[in-house]
Amino acid sequence: MTEKNFYITTPIYYPSGKLHIGSAYTTIACDVQARYKRLLGYDVYYLTGLDEHGQKIEAKAAEAGLTPQAYVDGMAEGVEKLWDLLDISHDVFYRTTNPEHEKAVQRIFEKLLAQDDIYLGEYSGWYSVSDEEFFTESQLTEVFRDETGKVTGGVAPSGHEVEWVSEESYFFRMGKYADRLLAFYKENPDFITPNSRMNEMINNFIEPGLEDLAVSRTSFTWGIPVPQNPKHVVYVWLDALFNYMTALGLENNLENRLDKFWPADIHMVGKDILRFHSIYWPIFLMALDLPLPKRLVAHGWYVMQDGKMSKSKGNVVYPEMLVERYGLDPLRYYLMRSLPVGSDGTFTPEDYVGRINYELANDLGNLLNRTVAMMNKYFAGKVPTAIASSTSFDADLQAVADKAIADYHTYMELVDYPRALEAVWSLIARTNKYIDETAPWVLAKDEAQESELAAVMVHLAESLRVVAHMIAPFMMNTANQITQQLGLGDVVSTENLAFGAFPEGVTVVEKGTPIFPRLDMEEEIAYIKEQMSAGKPVVEKEWNPDEVSLKNSKADVKFEDFDAVEIRVAEVIEVSKVEGSDKLLCFRLDAGDDEHRQILSGIAKFYPNEQELVGKKLQIVANLKPRKMMKKYVSQGMILSAEHDGNLTVLTVDPSVPNGAIIG
Ligand code: MSP
Repeated sequence: MTEKNFYITTPIYYPSGKLHIGSAYTTIACDVQARYKRLLGYDVYYLTGLDEHGQKIEAKAAEAGLTPQAYVDGMAEGVEKLWDLLDISHDVFYRTTNPEHEKAVQRIFEKLLAQDDIYLGEYSGWYSVSDEEFFTESQLTEVFRDETGKVTGGVAPSGHEVEWVSEESYFFRMGKYADRLLAFYKENPDFITPNSRMNEMINNFIEPGLEDLAVSRTSFTWGIPVPQNPKHVVYVWLDALFNYMTALGLENNLENRLDKFWPADIHMVGKDILRFHSIYWPIFLMALDLPLPKRLVAHGWYVMQDGKMSKSKGNVVYPEMLVERYGLDPLRYYLMRSLPVGSDGTFTPEDYVGRINYELANDLGNLLNRTVAMMNKYFAGKVPTAIASSTSFDADLQAVADKAIADYHTYMELVDYPRALEAVWSLIARTNKYIDETAPWVLAKDEAQESELAAVMVHLAESLRVVAHMIAPFMMNTANQITQQLGLGDVVSTENLAFGAFPEGVTVVEKGTPIFPRLDMEEEIAYIKEQMSAGKPVVEKEWNPDEVSLKNSKADVKFEDFDAVEIRVAEVIEVSKVEGSDKLLCFRLDAGDDEHRQILSGIAKFYPNEQELVGKKLQIVANLKPRKMMKKYVSQGMILSAEHDGNLTVLTVDPSVPNGAIIG
């Protein structure tokens, strides 16, 4: 039997400020994968930690009147407290000020220098302290000039100002390894998730020619000294990246951890640091003849409606506030559900409160409440066992459950959490519908139908048992609350998860307590907004059209032209694949007309499980001239969807908006 070991890492964070929901996202995402793998019987090692060296930290410490070490010690405490609050199940919290790490980095530097992968040279360029990165003039988004036209400064793509820095520096010969890296990519096309990012790395950085990388600095002292030349400290990426191995005991192979867990199964990284992990990290390892990590998973960012989170904009969301007010599981659920794979996602208070109310309280919470209440009412709390009879809806529920479990595992392996959760919610939705279809309250009135009623009850309990197991990596507490209310023990394994295995002789709790509160939408949205701006009044700036340069991909249209387009809310009543086409789906929609409309849409590829769209409220262009498609179909409009990274996602609206409502 092959050993089931699994090593997963978050990036190690800069402890230069309080962490917001963006960093919480990455850490929870890794936690979910770590828990998922543990439930499948893997021996997991989960690393997170801090990247504690560099000029920015040195400056922050000075600002606080502390030594850098005292400053990072204080920050580390705060970060560990946050991970406790978020129930992060990491095995190690690794810090680059760990002496074992420092020793290893020095040894590595010496070796690379001795084998001429590193040489001493001179560096000059535009440097951003905040990004710890040099930029060429053409990379700057803005340049400042003096009266003679000479460039005196500028702004990096991150928005931070740059300064001209010229200093002696050690360089790593990156170009030497470019061909080996390309060959490695070719042999390992799944090295980067999403795959499309690999081409981005090749086209933007490798093909134009890899520049040698500066790996030391002399302009500050807070770092690991270069042993041969201590006025230099090791530049932060060569230092930071090796944490993934030093934490396993690169120097001393603690408890054989290195043998057991290296190479890493997943390094999870944000899109902004993918370049360092997909180019520099493999090259460093190649130079040292060490095995390369198996996979990098790159995610997008949580942004706000007005762009990136920043204190000056007053739009930063901290996890503590959300946990304090709504509990931990809604935060973990929201963050994992709302950020589509590979692209950015927008955090909005409306969406946050909406998902708690609709998906957690209504869909899941109510299902549990109704099930426990009916079990008590009709069977004195005992989950019936013998299924002498079955309803005509059972087979369908079973089929949906089987597919949900299969999809769930597929997407969990792909680290596509929104789709994994959609699979779970497809089972929840089907089970809620099953209650309406089977109408247990009607069956209960007729003694002759007792065995049918029993069949319904055990199916409900079984659905919830399966759901609890699938949500466990995301919401461990909720999962266990569900199994406990069902009279089962805590979730301990998902190794053989299958629908139809509800144990015999189980009694549910006498009175189920709601697992999620229903929130007052308006009140809570206002609360989150107020917390985001931290009590600061948001000053509405007068809008000046000349000041903004918006990037549109199409030419401007007149308002009248736009106004001529009728966009409406339409609910999906039915959806089916179109025979003879692998692109099209055929929708029957309620758009508030006297009869349903039919629309064909080329989104089949993006919704392999198209039934998940039933019941969703979409946006359609209603007054598009009807047209005939595939010879026999008439399409009476167009479904709107958003394009991102080659994917299409339909635009949904809040379920409370009536069908036919005009959008504009
Ligand atoms: N110290 C380096 C990483 C070294 S790894 C060997 C670093 N630290 S960081 O604190 O700036 O960022 C850590 C991670 O947080 C990055 O993956 C970054 O993409 C992620 N995020 C920062 N803001 C984010 C959002 N708003 N949303 C999602 N992730 C975000 O880079």
